[in-house]
Amino acid sequence: MATLEQTPTMPGEPSSAEAGEPGVRRRDFINIAAVSFAGVGAVAAVAPLVVQFAPSKDVEALSSVEVDISKIQPGQGIKTVWRKQPVFIRNLRPEEIAEANKVSLAELRDPQTLADRTKPGKTNWLITLGVCTHLGCVPLGIGDGENKGDYKGYFCPCHGSHYDTAARIRKGPAPLNLHVPEYEFASDTVVRIG
Ligand code: FES
Repeated sequence: MATLEQTPTMPGEPSSAEAGEPGVRRRDFINIAAVSFAGVGAVAAVAPLVVQFAPSKDVEALSSVEVDISKIQPGQGIKTVWRKQPVFIRNLRPEEIAEANKVSLAELRDPQTLADRTKPGKTNWLITLGVCTHLGCVPLGIGDGENKGDYKGYFCPCHGSHYDTAARIRKGPAPLNLHVPEYEFASDTVVRIG
């Protein structure tokens, strides 16, 4: 059982025992009671906010999306949507992986390796937002026959940004690589984004 330490008595002040309150002085009790009520008040004030800001099940469901990638062959890609933004999922061919890996980081405006931008053991799966980091256009290159730009990845025609096979910016005004969103492999054939 928890016990309260007896507070030392100041000169001229009656001891707890003398005051008829073993273990706790009256002033201590008043202080403890005040703190307790303040604590209850704080909880009561915060609780409605917690309820108000807790995401509903619908919102939680929208915050992530599962995508079946079993039909995407090497060299192909699909465009999906997550939180109202386009997402590119691309199954890189071995030549595209080799192309990305032979680039020195010193050549890159936003230095990242392909491995930095993919999951261990799954470097063929390149998953990025389909949003140009210049002013937010949707680059070309994910669809069959689309212009992939000078570096065989993506090309943003708005102002001419070229991304390579790891979706890293290589030429044009965009400052950064295409953003890699949070994602995980729910299985070998399903990716959960968000
Ligand atoms: S928005 Fe893509 S280059 Fe400007």
